[in-house]
Amino acid sequence: MAHNQDAASHPLFRQTRRLTGSAADVARAATVLRHGGLVAFPTETVYGLGADATSDAAVAGIYAAKDRPQFNPLIVHVPTAAAARDIARFSDLADRLAAAFWPGPLTLVLPLAAPGRLSRLVTAGLDSVALRVPAAPLAQALLRAADLPIAAPSANPSGRISPTTAAHVLAGLDGRIDALVDGGSCAVGVESTIVDLTGPPRLLRPGGVAAEDLEAALGQPLLGPETGPAPERPVAPGQLSSHYAPRARVRLNATGAVEGEVFLGFGPCPGATRNLSETGDLMEATANLFTALHDLDNLGAAAIAVAPIPDHGLGAAINDRLRRAAAPR
Ligand code: TXA
Ligand code: MG
Repeated sequence: MAHNQDAASHPLFRQTRRLTGSAADVARAATVLRHGGLVAFPTETVYGLGADATSDAAVAGIYAAKDRPQFNPLIVHVPTAAAARDIARFSDLADRLAAAFWPGPLTLVLPLAAPGRLSRLVTAGLDSVALRVPAAPLAQALLRAADLPIAAPSANPSGRISPTTAAHVLAGLDGRIDALVDGGSCAVGVESTIVDLTGPPRLLRPGGVAAEDLEAALGQPLLGPETGPAPERPVAPGQLSSHYAPRARVRLNATGAVEGEVFLGFGPCPGATRNLSETGDLMEATANLFTALHDLDNLGAAAIAVAPIPDHGLGAAINDRLRRAAAPR
């Protein structure tokens, strides 16, 4: 096939409509979703790439747009815990976490309630489903207007840094998705924490809710992804080591930059190229993480050196993403 092929004739080419958070634009975005289209939208964690979770074709579009290598299960977004109860079975522990943290940056993996409405592609054929009730007002408005469960991984090409602004989304997916709802920056800045409740509570991915806060609400410790009874679940795409990769190499626990590096600081770091939080505030650092990585990557340095980040609370989510960004590819 000719490599100078007109973009518009490429099977993946879609005119990406820029939408605002106005009521009229949210209604437009909902219409696109109801017709099986792909809409990027802001949540409080990161921008999601949404599609109708009940449509195989719409969900397949997510994988195509992201160029995702495998069909891994996706998180399904609903506006309320009541809507989540139509899709999955809630245990007492699930009730407790939903009451404490929804809406918010927590995803629960629960047994699917039969008979399923969801595309098998969303659950990758599993008998469980990952559900989230996002808190961001624009996400809430869109989910209510669409009146559908919405599958939404982060709105970035597979393996790249997650987007926390509309500009990040366009840099990766312009021309590959139908619409983008611009809602400014995401307040939390890393993906949701994922807890699997199909067995003893297990932390599958650290994220926007600190594991310590979940354990306090559960009244028991969480198993880690690889501890306790053998998990029979597939390895999560977020668990691929090369996920969240900037183009630049990443060097962790650095005390400063060497020749050819830029320096990402945390706490007092005179001379840092960027600082996640000069006061050492983990919440501020989480919110700044992906934007800082995007910006530093765009400077074109060979490597990004990163100051040590404490590993408690939200620091666990930051370090998880940084280790993946630093992993050999
Ligand atoms: O913050 C977030 O969670 C963002 C925003 C857009 O909401 N969404 C997000 O979605 O990160 P996604 O689809 O990329 O997350 C997929 C994660 C993977 O780690 C996947 O393995 C896990 O959810 N997951 C989904 N269904 C699962 C299941 N049935 N069992 C175990 N893990 C599951
Ligand atoms: Mg992602």
